[in-house]
Amino acid sequence: MSSISYSALGRRARPPIIARLMSLMLENPKLLSIAAGFTDTRTLPEPAVQAAISALAQRPGEPEYLQYGTNQGRHKLRTLLADRLLALETPSDEEADEVRKNFFITNGSQQALYLAMQVLCEPGDIVLVDRPSYFVFLEMLSGLGVQARSMPVDADGCIDGPALRALVAGMRERGELSKLKAVYFVSYFSNPSARSLDEVEKDTIADALISEGAIVPVVEDAAYRELYYTRPHPARSVLSLSSWSAFPKLYLSTLTKTFASGLKVGYGTSSDAGLLARMLHVKGHHDFGTANYNQAILEEVLSQGGLDAQLAVLRPAYQRKMRALHDALTEGGLPSLGWSWAVPDGGLYLWLKAPAILDTGIDSAFCHACVEAGVLYVPGELCFGDDVPKNYIRLSFGVLAEPELAEAGRRFVGVAKRFA
Ligand SMILES: Cc1ncc(COP(=O)(O)O)c(C=O)c1O
Repeated sequence: MSSISYSALGRRARPPIIARLMSLMLENPKLLSIAAGFTDTRTLPEPAVQAAISALAQRPGEPEYLQYGTNQGRHKLRTLLADRLLALETPSDEEADEVRKNFFITNGSQQALYLAMQVLCEPGDIVLVDRPSYFVFLEMLSGLGVQARSMPVDADGCIDGPALRALVAGMRERGELSKLKAVYFVSYFSNPSARSLDEVEKDTIADALISEGAIVPVVEDAAYRELYYTRPHPARSVLSLSSWSAFPKLYLSTLTKTFASGLKVGYGTSSDAGLLARMLHVKGHHDFGTANYNQAILEEVLSQGGLDAQLAVLRPAYQRKMRALHDALTEGGLPSLGWSWAVPDGGLYLWLKAPAILDTGIDSAFCHACVEAGVLYVPGELCFGDDVPKNYIRLSFGVLAEPELAEAGRRFVGVAKRFA
């Protein structure tokens, strides 16, 4: 028997569900995984990274990039990324200064999400989340002992303003409002739904919170904002929208999806210097700075226009991959079996709704049959903070090549036919 006495956090920690999906993969080498949100390996920007490394090596003077960096991140990289973000927004001069001053770099945007939740929440607290939401974030909340409450949506998946207001009013009546610590949503080509929030929907969330006096920090996760296929989604972020002006704001994004996941560099900015300072204090305890070399490589890449060049490759590549999977599902006849999904305009996921009676959960007969047929998906049940439906599935077309995606789609439809 172990003599280790773990902390509450240590006791609550569970293996990430993605680890369970990965171990299924390892046990079944013939399995085609459309589960993990990995990025495309064939288009990874090796030449651009090599060029950046050579340019760094040729710089005169000491290789400062191999030394520790600063906790907040490399100044030039922050400036380049802040300029890029501000070009998508319409801030006042004062707000633009704030964005620049409070810009920070993290070890992936996942770290920034964790830092934010660590400084804002105690066990038992509540965070409002989108429905469906990013399942790794939901797992993180449960690891921290924090409750996720889904923001209600209508039949089209749009935020339902009156229902959200009623939800927050109910929290106030039950004396729970003091436990509400943040609102979180993935607003562009979301993981898992591929939906984007328009400005009216973002205003609706802000209005519902304001009407109930719940001015809590908002965390906008824009991980896929630049990963559109043909056109950017036109909505501005909470940084620019006047409906959110009274709220402390945290805007997060990442270079893992748009450039190289292996460099694991994320970024963000906050309208609230106090929130940022606390996050950075805790980051100091985690690592006192994201890998300086990785940041220096990206700084070089951005300075040379390498991010735009990579996006010009990725956007059509992901659109083709999305099409390969979508076509396999459609041509196999999945819609006629009562399944539906929207065709994404960006991102890495198809979000499938199965007939209501079909259980697609991780322990379901359907999930086991898919593994036996050689195809692995993410059960949609993982993507809901509460009131969990069983009939959704997330498919990722990030990593497999087009012919494999087509084969994975065929295998998937084959199983769906047996369960129809
Ligand atoms: C919505 C969303 N947010 C954040 C992340 C974290 O990304 P990273 O830590 O690689 O920057 C991911 C990764 O899949 C994601 O899908």
